[in-house]
Amino acid sequence: VSAEPAGVVVRGAVAADAPAVAVLLTELGYPSTADEVAGRLAYWVEDPSGAVLVASDDVGVVGCISVHTIPYLARTGRWARIESLVVAGRARGRGIGAALVAAAESFASSRGCLAVEVTSSRPRTDAHAFYRSIGFTDVCDRSGRFWKELPPSPPS
Ligand SMILES: CC(C)(COP(=O)(O)OP(=O)(O)OC[C@H]1O[C@@H](n2cnc3c(N)ncnc32)[C@H](O)[C@@H]1OP(=O)(O)O)[C@@H](O)C(=O)NCCC(=O)NCCS
Repeated sequence: VSAEPAGVVVRGAVAADAPAVAVLLTELGYPSTADEVAGRLAYWVEDPSGAVLVASDDVGVVGCISVHTIPYLARTGRWARIESLVVAGRARGRGIGAALVAAAESFASSRGCLAVEVTSSRPRTDAHAFYRSIGFTDVCDRSGRFWKELPPSPPS
């Protein structure tokens, strides 16, 4: 049984998706050029522990998600982190976001993940309602989140 809404296909991103993904990331609030996204996709695509997936309908790419898997040391297995998710404004409310998360969860399960997490900034209350509706629980009162900027260096 497919989790994808009728007329929508979810697949791994390829280099040719860079312009459409750039538009989506810009819509998410991260202004990005096609060239920048092409460079980022190149290192995502070659890393087997992560995936960038896109959803397309008959018009074109309407959503994307990036997910990364991380091994635990303290227990056997991995966990996954959704690094970004966006559905184009014109395509929201059709089940595409849920289909992208389901595909990311399948990828994570195939890599031995026991759980999946996503962080979503406090003002994104719509996204929080979305995550709750597809089975996620807000656990931020269990732990602090600490952050430190590092000097930039090119990805290896
Ligand atoms: C959040 C987002 C990815 C959801 O994608 P979507 O394709 O519109 O969501 P879906 O149609 O798959 O909705 C799936 C479920 O979530 C619920 N949902 C979606 N948006 C919701 C909202 N704003 N409020 C309440 N519930 C919502 C839907 O009702 C649906 O539940 P149902 O199946 O019980 O009806 C999309 O709205 C988006 O890209 N928003 C802007 C970017 C963003 O916030 N990204 C997340 C950053 S962490």
